[in-house]
Amino acid sequence: MDPEKAHHFTFSLIRIVNAIPGLGAINRALFRPKSKDSINLWGLHFPNRVGLAAGFDKDGKLYRELYNYGFGFIEVGTVTPKAQAGNPKPRLFRLPEDEALINRMGFNNGGVEELAERLKAKRPKDLIIGGNIGKNKLTPNEKALDDYRICRKALHPYVDYFVVNVSSPNTPNLRDLQEKEPLKAILRALKEDDAQEAESKPILLKIAPDLSDSQLDDIIEIVEETQIEGLIATNTTISREGLNTPGSRVEEIGAGGLSGQPVRERANEVIRYLKQNAKTDFPIIAVGGVQSKGDYQEKLDAGASLVQVYTGFIYQGPSLVKRLLA
Ligand SMILES: Cc1cc2nc3c(=O)[nH]c(=O)nc-3n(C[C@H](O)[C@H](O)[C@H](O)COP(=O)(O)O)c2cc1C
Repeated sequence: MDPEKAHHFTFSLIRIVNAIPGLGAINRALFRPKSKDSINLWGLHFPNRVGLAAGFDKDGKLYRELYNYGFGFIEVGTVTPKAQAGNPKPRLFRLPEDEALINRMGFNNGGVEELAERLKAKRPKDLIIGGNIGKNKLTPNEKALDDYRICRKALHPYVDYFVVNVSSPNTPNLRDLQEKEPLKAILRALKEDDAQEAESKPILLKIAPDLSDSQLDDIIEIVEETQIEGLIATNTTISREGLNTPGSRVEEIGAGGLSGQPVRERANEVIRYLKQNAKTDFPIIAVGGVQSKGDYQEKLDAGASLVQVYTGFIYQGPSLVKRLLA
């Protein structure tokens, strides 16, 4: 089956299964881990350290059902101010020999208002929700700040933390916003807007695994200067190095972000570098290639406070979180 169709199929299946009276509770009993690897961070209580990474439930259509599969937190988005279709299909590809995916979805989503509406629904008391925010494809980078501000404001009442996504490879020129000056301007403005709210919410920045050491030094400086609450490391990579999948197949797939096993070690390196070189001890959410308990432990050993999964959930299925925390 086409991987995007398979995603929609699984999505519908999760919804249907959990709508059957009693089956949600059975799923919870089967898949929510007993171990309480809980942690308090930014004034939030995370029931465990494993979260669902951004991009799986972009529009917040399934977070209550996904909770049954054990996640301690779920990140919705990336969402943009206006709905947009994303890139032409096919745009999601499986690389089974590498336990990896390549995607060039391009922030397909229903827009921030629709997401905010869905997040008003009653949710499990201990479920932490992150809101991952981006800019519309048609918004030029000079106006990107407006898009991030619109999304932050619309989601503020409904999410527990924010993630500023400037690291997707699938929106043209988005990653230029990772440069020092534009990034500082965006984060400063979001912190100022947040300060106007009655209740402050943590703001994190999600970075690419393809940054050089000197760009990582800039990121550290930016975090320390803007006093955002932490980082998410990392997004998908544009690198195609060291893959088992034949080169001809990789070439045929074309552009997009590579996730899963091939990004695991690079994500670890980035986290270690940030931890070793930062003067302040800001928390990092690790993401990239976690498919086993060993991979999960590696991320914690690298210095991460929390860990997210995406591709591992696709390949390993609903028992993944329980196995990571066993
Ligand atoms: C199909 C797909 C869509 C994604 N969409 C987003 C997104 O909208 N925003 C985002 O910040 N990251 C997105 N990601 C990146 C993941 O959140 C994660 O950072 C990356 O896949 C590495 O983790 P993994 O190896 O566990 O998949 C997406 C990943 C995939 C595979």
